[in-house]
Amino acid sequence: MWGLLLVVAATASLGAACTPSVTTVSGTYAPVTVCSGALIFSDDFDEFDLEKWQHENTLAGGGNWEFQYYSNNRTNSFAHSGTLFIRPSLTADQFGQAFMTSSTLNIEGGAPADRCTNPQWWGCERTGTPTNILNPIKSARVRTVESFSFRYGRLEVRAKMPAGDWLWPAIWLMPAHNVYGTWPSSGEIDLVESRGNRNMFSNGVHIGTQEAGSTLHYGPFPELNGWERAHWIRRNGNGYDRAFHRYQLEWTPDFLRFSIDDVELGRITPGNGGFWQHGGFNNHPGLLNPWRYGSKMAPFDQKFYIIMNLAVGGTNGFFPDGVTNPFPKPWWNGSPTAATDFWNAQAAWLPTWNLNVNDGQDASLQVDYVRVWAL
Ligand SMILES: *[C@@H]1O[C@H](CO)[C@@H](O)[C@H](O)[C@H]1NC(C)=O
Repeated sequence: MWGLLLVVAATASLGAACTPSVTTVSGTYAPVTVCSGALIFSDDFDEFDLEKWQHENTLAGGGNWEFQYYSNNRTNSFAHSGTLFIRPSLTADQFGQAFMTSSTLNIEGGAPADRCTNPQWWGCERTGTPTNILNPIKSARVRTVESFSFRYGRLEVRAKMPAGDWLWPAIWLMPAHNVYGTWPSSGEIDLVESRGNRNMFSNGVHIGTQEAGSTLHYGPFPELNGWERAHWIRRNGNGYDRAFHRYQLEWTPDFLRFSIDDVELGRITPGNGGFWQHGGFNNHPGLLNPWRYGSKMAPFDQKFYIIMNLAVGGTNGFFPDGVTNPFPKPWWNGSPTAATDFWNAQAAWLPTWNLNVNDGQDASLQVDYVRVWAL
């Protein structure tokens, strides 16, 4: 009798335990079976698991001529007390000032973990000159490209944004397989980006630590990107650098929705015309829609992986010319010597990073956890 009851109970709980989900996954840390509502990826950063988080090793500057050199170094990325820190440091601390204006830095390595991960934009080797110095900041960018990618689900990252002039943290997702072609045809999902300046204003609006944004990038080629129709910001008078917040993405076969601390920031529920119509690309006669055989969510109907990084500066306009900041922005976005101009103004921005206080925690992107649930 008891045995029978146990069998019945076990069968019932097994049935309840796994309702199949629309969410799909891949990667070395992906579960074999995806059950509806289940936690399918998580990291609390009790340790820094480099099998989950692959470091980028590149001088590429993110395609925006950002000023950092990303590498795998515990000065720039480490887990401490259950938190992941991505912390900037000065390249000159390692190589010396003279090296930056006169030497060649080749970051290609022999071991699988030491390979240069992005050769684009002189990403694996650069030579510094007095007007065009080597990337002046060292930082880190980590990704789940081998360990975990998913299509549809709920993502929540509890994080604290860094403070310090011209710091640009980002937690975002990129397509695992570029099923619709290269960027931005296969999409990009930016969960959160912010700017580290504590007192930066553009047209009277605080666009530094008091602003956090979420964005989708999608379009048939780089010059035609519908991001402006899929970009949301939220303000916090206390600053996103002062406390941890939960940055959330809900991604279903019907909509994409961004929230912060359970308050919706924005969402897109595309109609039958999909993102092609949402981006207004149907108004450009003669363009071939790369998503024409995808679902209405295309390109956001394929697997994406997670990226977390701390960038600095760049010339793409994320830091607009003409902003008001206690120390003016030291480079123009059109300048061919932007990194050098930035470096030469070190006396203005370096004190705002507080690198010598508390192991540079103010200037660090801090991540308490990353969690993904199946739908
Ligand atoms: C790691 O970074 C520190 C600080 O920049 C530097 O001194 C050290 O040489 C780096 N380690 C390696 C192996 O590059």
